Amino acid sequence: MTASASMPSSFATPAPPLSTRGLIAGYEPDLPIVKGIDFTLRQGEFVTVLGPNGAGKSTFVKAIAGLVPLHGGTLSLADADITGCPRHALVRKGLAFVPQTENIFATMTIRENLQIAATVLPKPVRKVRIEAMLDTYPDLAKRPGAVAGGLSGGQRQMLATARALLVEPRVLILDEPSAGLSPKAVAEVFERLVAINRSGVPVLLVEQNVRAALRIAHRAVILVDGRLRHDAPAAELAADPDIGRLFLGAHGTAAPRNGDPAP
Ligand SMILES: Nc1ncnc2c1ncn2[C@@H]1O[C@H](COP(=O)(O)OP(=O)(O)O)[C@@H](O)[C@H]1O
Ligand SMILES: [Mg+2]
Repeated sequence: MTASASMPSSFATPAPPLSTRGLIAGYEPDLPIVKGIDFTLRQGEFVTVLGPNGAGKSTFVKAIAGLVPLHGGTLSLADADITGCPRHALVRKGLAFVPQTENIFATMTIRENLQIAATVLPKPVRKVRIEAMLDTYPDLAKRPGAVAGGLSGGQRQMLATARALLVEPRVLILDEPSAGLSPKAVAEVFERLVAINRSGVPVLLVEQNVRAALRIAHRAVILVDGRLRHDAPAAELAADPDIGRLFLGAHGTAAPRNGDPAP
């Protein structure tokens, strides 16, 4: 058989690392929180997901990560349809997700946290990957026997990210890694994310820290009430003197002007 016999016709333009089409998701069967989102994360891209509290940002990324039931739409990871794949299968396929909370095992040591994350890998590579990850994170490598619960917020976040990166993911998704951190720790976490992205991993970052996120992302999407309301280069949004206005779901939801005729 020749290679070309099985080559998809679209091989010249590889599928984007991650895409959602008409994604609908929520915790209760009749209560969609994510209300039909078309989104594409391109190769090498760093995209930040912004929006007001309760807009559905966490639900969106948790749905992508297989942690919230899908009610409709499709989800693709590179050229694979991953709609409805359980979480553990998604990790193996290279979709790494760092949730906002409970992203480490607080009673276990740094090394144990990495060992647990490594169990999805084939046995022979586990140790090598853990050592390589510790090399990348000198702060963690200094005391691999330290209990994770005793780490600073910034170090915990580094450990959570290191756990996600152990599998050498195709895509890295993080939900508010800067929450509750000191400005110095936030800067470190963001610097690290930029380095990860520059190493070739596409990043999808949910953030409340709008200005900081716009400084490091290539592109930003704004979610309002479960819908994607705005999609623009980060620099363009950062230059907008009134970003807050975009958070209000202005498209089609404006109140009638004074003097408008009654319907
Ligand atoms: N575990 C849950 N069970 C039921 N409803 C939830 C749960 N988590 C969030 N929600 C609801 O989903 C909506 C969107 O929340 P969330 O995705 O956390 O928004 P954001 O991350 O943008 O602040 C909110 O109305 C919230 O109350
Ligand atoms: Mg959230």
